[in-house]
Amino acid sequence: MTAPIASGRTADIYAIGGGRVLRRYRQGGDVAREAQIMAYVRDGGFPVPEVFSAHGDEMAMARVDGPTMTDALLAGKLPSQEGGGTLAGLHNLLHRLPAPGGDEAVIHLVLHPGNVILGEDGPVVIDWRDAGEGPADLDLAMSALILGMVAVTGPVKIAHQATAVLDGFLPAAEGDPARMLDRAVAMRAVNPRLTEHEIAGLDGAAGLVRRRAGLTT
Ligand SMILES: Nc1ncnc2c1ncn2[C@@H]1O[C@H](COP(=O)(O)OP(=O)(O)OP(=O)(O)O)[C@@H](O)[C@H]1O
Ligand SMILES: [Mg+2]
Repeated sequence: MTAPIASGRTADIYAIGGGRVLRRYRQGGDVAREAQIMAYVRDGGFPVPEVFSAHGDEMAMARVDGPTMTDALLAGKLPSQEGGGTLAGLHNLLHRLPAPGGDEAVIHLVLHPGNVILGEDGPVVIDWRDAGEGPADLDLAMSALILGMVAVTGPVKIAHQATAVLDGFLPAAEGDPARMLDRAVAMRAVNPRLTEHEIAGLDGAAGLVRRRAGLTT
């Protein structure tokens, strides 16, 4: 197979023609559950790539052309606060869907700007590996914490931008992004995909989120 068109921390993405991409985990994994969640939220009108097949560690899905929200923010093509508002709008839309198994919500848990592609028809959310059902506020807390991490551990200019994204996100999110921050910190702390530097920044990040949330409510 030819070189991937993109690579994340865990997966490589290959163009396979016909407006499709193949996403494959480098360390193995089972995509069945995330494919099921993607199909479910898509049926509910949430913007997610159509999944054509899912077997073992491979998933074929619709290709979405466009920059990620991270790329657009870094390139100065998307104002930071507006990006934060868009991110919150995606959460709000997702959490309004009826959850298949009960009274909680469908949650993504890594809904950060790197997992949003700004396609021609609007933002599309990718990377549903950690998705499931749970409290909407936990999803909000995880996104806020990830933005807070960039704000406290990133280089100055990027840190500044991340704080502005957070300031756009917090007031636009329906729910309370600060309520479940402790649980979000505990979940991130045991995430094997995080570096030690990132883990060391978690408490500072949570503190920043609390301060910014206090400013906006
Ligand atoms: N459906 C798609 N269409 C076009 N590009 C895609 C699509 N899905 C993923 N990509 C590209 O591949 C990159 C990595 O995808 P993805 O986030 O799913 O991988 P990952 O390994 O889980 O990433 P990470 O752990 O770094 O967040 C994305 O940033 C995007 O550029
Ligand atoms: Mg990703």
